[in-house]
Amino acid sequence: MTQFNLAPESDSEVSRGRWSSRLAFILAATGSAVGLGNIWKFPYVTGENGGGAFVLVYLLCIAIIGVPIMMAEVFVGRSGRHNPIASMRLVAVRNLSSPAWRISAIIGMIAAFAILSFYSVIGGWAASYIGHAAMGDFTGGTADSIGGLFSALLASPGQLLAWHTLFMALVVVVVSCGLKGGLERAVTILMPALFLLLIITVGYATTTGHFGEAVSFLFTPDFGALTINGVLIALGHAFFTLSLGMAIMMAYGSYLGRDVAIGRTAVSIALMDTVVALLAGLAIFPVVFANGLEAGAGPGLIFQTLPLAFGNMPMGSLFGALFFILLLFAAWTSGISLLEPVVEWVEENTSMGRSGSAIVVGVLCWLLGVASILSLNLWSDVAPLAMFERFEGKTIFDLLDFFTANILLPLSGLLTAIFVGWFVARESLKADLDLSDGTFAVWLTLLRFVTPVAVVIVFIYNLLA
Ligand code: PFF
Repeated sequence: MTQFNLAPESDSEVSRGRWSSRLAFILAATGSAVGLGNIWKFPYVTGENGGGAFVLVYLLCIAIIGVPIMMAEVFVGRSGRHNPIASMRLVAVRNLSSPAWRISAIIGMIAAFAILSFYSVIGGWAASYIGHAAMGDFTGGTADSIGGLFSALLASPGQLLAWHTLFMALVVVVVSCGLKGGLERAVTILMPALFLLLIITVGYATTTGHFGEAVSFLFTPDFGALTINGVLIALGHAFFTLSLGMAIMMAYGSYLGRDVAIGRTAVSIALMDTVVALLAGLAIFPVVFANGLEAGAGPGLIFQTLPLAFGNMPMGSLFGALFFILLLFAAWTSGISLLEPVVEWVEENTSMGRSGSAIVVGVLCWLLGVASILSLNLWSDVAPLAMFERFEGKTIFDLLDFFTANILLPLSGLLTAIFVGWFVARESLKADLDLSDGTFAVWLTLLRFVTPVAVVIVFIYNLLA
């Protein structure tokens, strides 16, 4: 078993890599947070769950559950300075608690692995749409013709497999080269560019004549449209979109310098993530309403609405191609962060080295992704949990998405919150987080009481519902 040095480390003693600046960490963590979850998933789950009330619950979850847990995860990573499982164990032992707390990081890493398997499939969709846009396939398109393109992609296991393979290879290459050089540089350019393109698409959306309708859909709460399952999904999505409950912020925090204020940093990341999601909603729903599309269309929503917008705006092929390139990059930086913790763990526990670990984990994850691909076509009737009424008709893809986002992530986040809130010495939290007394008290209260109670209530309701 690995022997840990239980003494708190000073920076000079630590030989691991380090982010080159606070900004680099913010960009990398934002690169992880901002991804398909914001641009692909947020609009479609909002559409499926009736709009405004769902958005409100989601924003609440981000503010009072997401941000405090993000701070707790970064704290564990920075104190532990190892892979997430070892860091949790180390921080637990240092605080005279059971090393079994590392279960939260284990659950998180299992979730990260499972999520990457289907995330890569969807990243592949984004990649394939770059070509469609660039070749003018959307130009003058109608809702039907563009819907047809999407159905054709999903019906073709061969195409999906090729794009999934490409995406996974991109992720493995960066992770095997180590975290710093490539990733830091890439996010510095890509994140601002993504913002800019989103704003251009929102600009187009304002010209559709249905912008007001979209704003009221997103921001006027209609609690009648919200179900308890919707609340669970909002909670799960808050975790997913901030990359929480997956040991990722622990892994990234483990490279963070001591001089960085964790609280302010977490708030900045959450803010940027939320702004991108809301902008995506404002880009997409006006087009949905203007073209009589279904807001609750599900996972295909952005692949059927944005192309319509691009197909009907000046220079749409150019903007469309750029947009899907950026979507691919947003997904890529998130995909890298999904692979990172597992690879870090395999690397520290085997003799395979960085590249070997990245390749082995990547191939296994790719294999699991194949099951998701098949559930879109050849296995679309396979519903492994059909014996339970609630999972009737849910494919392997649906189940992986449901169990990771709605069960594993909140569970891992809950354990981390309880551990950091109740079992870590107050003085060490206080010293490390560097918050004012008032803010610290608010944070600790949220972590100790609000997060656990909220997550548990939502879980129980959902079991009974
Ligand atoms: N937060 C990313 C998104 O919203 O697309 C997805 C993601 C990345 C989830 C990394 C989880 C994760 F660990």
